[in-house]
Amino acid sequence: MTSNTSTATNKDSRFNAEATNWDANPFVQAATVHAHKALLSRLPPPEELATYDVLEMGCGTGLLSLLLAPSARSLTAVDAAEGMINVLKSKLATSHAHLSNKVVPVHALLEDPDDDRIQFDPASSTGREKKRRFDLITSHLVLHHIPDPLSAVLTTMYGCLKPGTGRVMLTDFENFGPEARRFHAESKMAEVERDGIGRDEMRELMEAAGFVDVKIEVAFEMDKQVEREPGSGIKGGPILRFPFLVCEGRRP
Ligand SMILES: C[S@@+](CC[C@H](N)C(=O)[O-])C[C@H]1O[C@@H](n2cnc3c(N)ncnc32)[C@H](O)[C@@H]1O
Repeated sequence: MTSNTSTATNKDSRFNAEATNWDANPFVQAATVHAHKALLSRLPPPEELATYDVLEMGCGTGLLSLLLAPSARSLTAVDAAEGMINVLKSKLATSHAHLSNKVVPVHALLEDPDDDRIQFDPASSTGREKKRRFDLITSHLVLHHIPDPLSAVLTTMYGCLKPGTGRVMLTDFENFGPEARRFHAESKMAEVERDGIGRDEMRELMEAAGFVDVKIEVAFEMDKQVEREPGSGIKGGPILRFPFLVCEGRRP
Protein backbone atom coordinates (compact mmCIF):
# COMPACT_ATOMS: atom_id res chain seq x y z
CA MET A 1 0.00 0.00 0.00
CA THR A 2 1.33 3.45 -0.89
CA SER A 3 -0.04 6.36 1.11
CA ASN A 4 -1.52 9.39 -0.56
CA THR A 5 0.68 12.42 0.07
CA SER A 6 -1.22 14.80 -2.16
CA THR A 7 -3.41 16.03 0.69
CA ALA A 8 -1.44 17.99 3.28
CA THR A 9 -2.61 17.44 6.84
CA ASN A 10 -2.62 20.34 9.34
CA LYS A 11 0.68 19.06 10.63
CA ASP A 12 2.24 18.92 7.15
CA SER A 13 1.03 22.51 6.61
CA ARG A 14 2.80 23.60 9.77
CA PHE A 15 6.04 21.93 8.75
CA ASN A 16 5.72 23.17 5.15
CA ALA A 17 5.33 26.69 6.51
CA GLU A 18 8.28 26.31 8.89
CA ALA A 19 10.58 24.58 6.41
CA THR A 20 12.43 27.58 5.00
CA ASN A 21 13.28 28.91 8.47
CA TRP A 22 13.75 25.55 10.16
CA ASP A 23 17.56 25.61 10.12
CA ALA A 24 17.65 29.08 11.66
CA ASN A 25 16.52 27.67 15.03
CA PRO A 26 19.65 27.28 17.20
CA PHE A 27 17.91 24.82 19.55
CA VAL A 28 17.09 22.51 16.64
CA GLN A 29 20.66 22.78 15.35
CA ALA A 30 22.13 21.98 18.78
CA ALA A 31 19.71 19.08 19.33
CA THR A 32 20.83 17.61 15.99
CA VAL A 33 24.50 17.76 16.99
CA HIS A 34 23.67 16.01 20.29
CA ALA A 35 21.62 13.35 18.49
CA HIS A 36 24.39 12.72 15.96
CA LYS A 37 26.93 12.24 18.77
CA ALA A 38 24.53 9.95 20.63
CA LEU A 39 24.11 7.80 17.51
CA LEU A 40 27.82 7.63 16.65
CA SER A 41 28.70 6.57 20.20
CA ARG A 42 26.27 3.63 19.88
CA LEU A 43 26.98 2.63 16.28
CA PRO A 44 29.72 0.24 15.12
CA PRO A 45 33.18 1.52 14.10
CA PRO A 46 33.57 3.55 10.88
CA GLU A 47 34.55 0.60 8.63
CA GLU A 48 31.33 -1.22 9.49
CA LEU A 49 29.16 1.89 9.50
CA ALA A 50 30.41 2.63 5.98
CA THR A 51 28.49 -0.46 4.80
CA TYR A 52 25.18 0.72 6.33
CA ASP A 53 22.09 1.69 4.40
CA VAL A 54 20.27 4.13 6.66
CA LEU A 55 16.62 5.21 6.59
CA GLU A 56 15.68 8.40 8.44
CA MET A 57 11.98 8.87 9.18
CA GLY A 58 10.93 12.50 9.59
CA CYS A 59 14.22 13.93 8.32
CA GLY A 60 12.88 17.50 8.04
CA THR A 61 15.40 19.63 6.14
CA GLY A 62 18.01 16.89 6.54
CA LEU A 63 20.01 18.36 9.43
CA LEU A 64 20.77 14.93 10.90
CA SER A 65 20.75 13.17 7.51
CA LEU A 66 23.57 15.34 6.18
CA LEU A 67 25.67 14.80 9.32
CA LEU A 68 25.22 11.05 9.27
CA ALA A 69 25.37 10.38 5.52
CA PRO A 70 29.17 10.75 5.13
CA SER A 71 29.64 7.82 7.55
CA ALA A 72 27.14 5.51 5.81
CA ARG A 73 26.85 3.69 2.46
CA SER A 74 23.54 5.41 1.69
CA LEU A 75 20.88 7.42 3.50
CA THR A 76 17.22 7.53 2.47
CA ALA A 77 15.66 10.62 4.04
CA VAL A 78 11.86 10.48 4.31
CA ASP A 79 9.51 13.25 5.42
CA ALA A 80 5.75 13.72 5.16
CA ALA A 81 6.09 17.49 4.60
CA GLU A 82 7.00 18.37 1.03
CA GLY A 83 8.36 21.78 2.09
CA MET A 84 10.95 20.09 4.32
CA ILE A 85 12.01 17.70 1.55
CA ASN A 86 12.29 20.59 -0.91
CA VAL A 87 14.75 22.34 1.42
CA LEU A 88 16.80 19.13 1.64
CA LYS A 89 16.71 18.76 -2.15
CA SER A 90 17.97 22.30 -2.55
CA LYS A 91 20.88 21.64 -0.13
CA LEU A 92 21.77 18.52 -2.13
CA ALA A 93 21.81 20.62 -5.28
CA THR A 94 24.05 23.33 -3.76
CA SER A 95 25.87 23.30 -0.38
CA HIS A 96 25.78 19.49 -0.05
CA ALA A 97 26.13 18.44 -3.69
CA HIS A 98 28.98 16.14 -2.64
CA LEU A 99 26.39 14.01 -0.79
CA SER A 100 23.86 13.86 -3.63
CA ASN A 101 25.10 10.41 -4.64
CA LYS A 102 24.40 9.07 -1.12
CA VAL A 103 21.30 10.85 0.16
CA VAL A 104 17.90 10.09 -1.36
CA PRO A 105 15.22 12.63 -0.35
CA VAL A 106 11.72 11.14 -0.32
CA HIS A 107 8.42 12.93 0.25
CA ALA A 108 6.22 10.27 1.86
CA LEU A 109 4.19 9.32 4.86
CA LEU A 110 5.72 5.90 4.97
CA GLU A 111 3.31 3.10 5.86
CA ASP A 112 4.59 0.21 3.77
CA PRO A 113 8.15 -1.22 3.86
CA ASP A 114 7.71 -2.16 0.17
CA ASP A 115 6.76 1.40 -0.79
CA ASP A 116 8.28 2.07 -4.23
CA ARG A 117 9.61 5.43 -3.10
CA ILE A 118 12.25 3.93 -0.78
CA GLN A 119 13.50 1.25 -3.16
CA PHE A 120 16.09 3.40 -4.94
CA ASP A 121 19.64 2.49 -3.91
CA PRO A 122 22.01 5.29 -4.90
CA ALA A 123 25.06 3.09 -4.26
CA SER A 124 23.97 0.23 -6.50
CA SER A 125 24.85 0.01 -10.18
CA THR A 126 21.28 -0.93 -11.10
CA GLY A 127 19.82 1.70 -8.77
CA ARG A 128 16.77 -0.36 -7.80
CA GLU A 129 16.20 -3.24 -5.51
CA LYS A 130 13.06 -5.16 -4.81
CA LYS A 131 12.13 -5.14 -1.13
CA ARG A 132 15.05 -2.99 -0.10
CA ARG A 133 15.80 -3.32 3.60
CA PHE A 134 17.94 -1.10 5.86
CA ASP A 135 20.69 -1.63 8.43
CA LEU A 136 19.64 1.33 10.57
CA ILE A 137 16.55 3.48 11.01
CA THR A 138 16.84 6.81 12.80
CA SER A 139 14.29 9.43 13.67
CA HIS A 140 14.93 12.53 15.72
CA LEU A 141 12.27 14.76 17.33
CA VAL A 142 9.56 12.98 15.33
CA LEU A 143 7.83 10.41 17.54
CA HIS A 144 6.06 13.08 19.62
CA HIS A 145 4.36 14.30 16.41
CA ILE A 146 3.02 10.90 15.40
CA PRO A 147 -0.65 10.33 16.11
CA ASP A 148 -1.77 7.17 17.86
CA PRO A 149 -1.28 4.40 17.32
CA LEU A 150 2.46 4.97 17.60
CA SER A 151 2.73 1.21 17.19
CA ALA A 152 1.85 1.56 13.46
CA VAL A 153 5.04 3.56 12.76
CA LEU A 154 7.15 1.16 14.81
CA THR A 155 5.72 -1.77 12.84
CA THR A 156 6.57 -0.01 9.54
CA MET A 157 10.10 0.65 10.80
CA TYR A 158 10.45 -2.99 11.84
CA GLY A 159 9.37 -4.10 8.37
CA CYS A 160 11.95 -1.80 6.73
CA LEU A 161 14.89 -3.39 8.59
CA LYS A 162 17.16 -6.23 7.50
CA PRO A 163 16.14 -9.33 9.46
CA GLY A 164 18.72 -10.43 12.01
CA THR A 165 20.85 -7.30 12.10
CA GLY A 166 18.78 -4.22 11.28
CA ARG A 167 18.15 -1.87 14.16
CA VAL A 168 16.49 1.38 15.15
CA MET A 169 17.94 4.28 17.11
CA LEU A 170 15.20 6.80 17.78
CA THR A 171 15.77 10.04 19.68
CA ASP A 172 13.17 12.38 21.13
CA PHE A 173 12.58 14.33 24.32
CA GLU A 174 11.31 12.40 27.30
CA ASN A 175 7.90 12.79 28.85
CA PHE A 176 9.38 13.13 32.33
CA GLY A 177 6.26 14.58 33.95
CA PRO A 178 3.83 17.51 33.66
CA GLU A 179 6.61 20.03 32.94
CA ALA A 180 7.48 18.15 29.71
CA ARG A 181 4.45 19.84 28.09
CA ARG A 182 6.33 23.13 28.27
CA PHE A 183 8.79 21.91 25.59
CA HIS A 184 6.44 23.52 23.05
CA ALA A 185 4.67 26.87 23.24
CA GLU A 186 0.95 26.30 23.82
CA SER A 187 0.26 27.88 20.41
CA LYS A 188 1.99 24.89 18.74
CA MET A 189 0.21 22.20 20.74
CA ALA A 190 -2.43 21.51 18.07
CA GLU A 191 0.21 19.71 16.01
CA VAL A 192 1.87 17.94 18.94
CA GLU A 193 0.52 14.48 19.68
CA ARG A 194 2.31 13.78 22.96
CA ASP A 195 4.42 15.58 25.53
CA GLY A 196 7.53 13.64 24.63
CA ILE A 197 8.00 9.89 24.76
CA GLY A 198 7.75 7.68 27.83
CA ARG A 199 10.36 5.03 28.64
CA ASP A 200 7.91 2.33 29.68
CA GLU A 201 5.51 3.05 26.81
CA MET A 202 8.32 2.93 24.23
CA ARG A 203 9.69 -0.35 25.59
CA GLU A 204 6.24 -1.93 25.57
CA LEU A 205 5.44 -0.71 22.04
CA MET A 206 8.82 -1.70 20.62
CA GLU A 207 8.65 -5.19 22.11
CA ALA A 208 5.08 -5.59 20.86
CA ALA A 209 6.28 -4.60 17.35
CA GLY A 210 8.80 -7.46 17.54
CA PHE A 211 12.03 -5.66 18.44
CA VAL A 212 14.56 -7.43 20.65
CA ASP A 213 17.54 -6.07 22.60
CA VAL A 214 15.37 -3.07 23.42
CA LYS A 215 17.32 -0.48 25.36
CA ILE A 216 16.00 2.92 26.33
CA GLU A 217 18.15 5.46 28.09
CA VAL A 218 18.82 9.15 28.43
CA ALA A 219 21.23 10.08 25.63
CA PHE A 220 21.63 13.77 26.47
CA GLU A 221 19.89 16.69 28.13
CA MET A 222 19.15 20.15 26.82
CA ASP A 223 18.23 23.39 28.52
CA LYS A 224 15.41 25.31 26.89
CA GLN A 225 13.83 28.61 27.79
CA VAL A 226 10.08 28.11 27.82
CA GLU A 227 7.08 30.46 27.75
CA ARG A 228 6.75 32.67 30.82
CA GLU A 229 3.34 31.20 31.59
CA PRO A 230 1.98 28.26 29.59
CA GLY A 231 -0.18 29.73 26.82
CA SER A 232 0.95 33.31 27.43
CA GLY A 233 2.93 33.40 24.19
CA ILE A 234 5.45 35.53 26.11
CA LYS A 235 9.04 34.45 25.80
CA GLY A 236 11.54 34.77 28.63
CA GLY A 237 10.19 32.13 31.01
CA PRO A 238 12.27 29.76 33.10
CA ILE A 239 14.98 27.58 31.63
CA LEU A 240 13.97 23.94 31.97
CA ARG A 241 16.16 20.90 31.46
CA PHE A 242 14.75 18.37 29.00
CA PRO A 243 16.15 14.82 28.89
CA PHE A 244 16.30 13.17 25.46
CA LEU A 245 15.88 9.41 25.17
CA VAL A 246 17.52 7.13 22.68
CA CYS A 247 15.37 4.06 21.97
CA GLU A 248 17.30 1.15 20.49
CA GLY A 249 16.03 -2.18 19.24
CA ARG A 250 16.98 -4.91 16.75
CA ARG A 251 14.88 -6.90 14.31
CA PRO A 252 15.60 -10.57 15.08
C1 LIG B 1 9.98 18.39 14.67
S1 LIG B 1 10.27 18.01 13.00
C2 LIG B 1 11.90 17.31 13.12
C3 LIG B 1 12.62 17.33 11.82
C4 LIG B 1 14.06 16.82 11.89
N1 LIG B 1 14.12 15.46 12.36
C5 LIG B 1 14.90 17.72 12.76
O1 LIG B 1 15.22 17.33 13.90
O2 LIG B 1 15.24 18.83 12.32
C6 LIG B 1 9.25 16.58 12.76
C7 LIG B 1 9.24 16.14 11.29
O3 LIG B 1 8.66 14.84 11.24
C8 LIG B 1 7.87 14.76 10.08
N2 LIG B 1 6.92 13.66 10.30
C9 LIG B 1 6.00 13.54 11.28
N3 LIG B 1 5.36 12.37 11.18
C10 LIG B 1 5.92 11.73 10.11
C11 LIG B 1 5.72 10.47 9.50
N4 LIG B 1 4.80 9.63 9.94
N5 LIG B 1 6.47 10.15 8.42
C12 LIG B 1 7.40 10.99 7.95
N6 LIG B 1 7.64 12.20 8.49
C13 LIG B 1 6.91 12.56 9.55
C14 LIG B 1 7.25 16.13 9.94
O4 LIG B 1 6.81 16.39 8.62
C15 LIG B 1 8.41 17.02 10.37
O5 LIG B 1 9.20 17.43 9.28
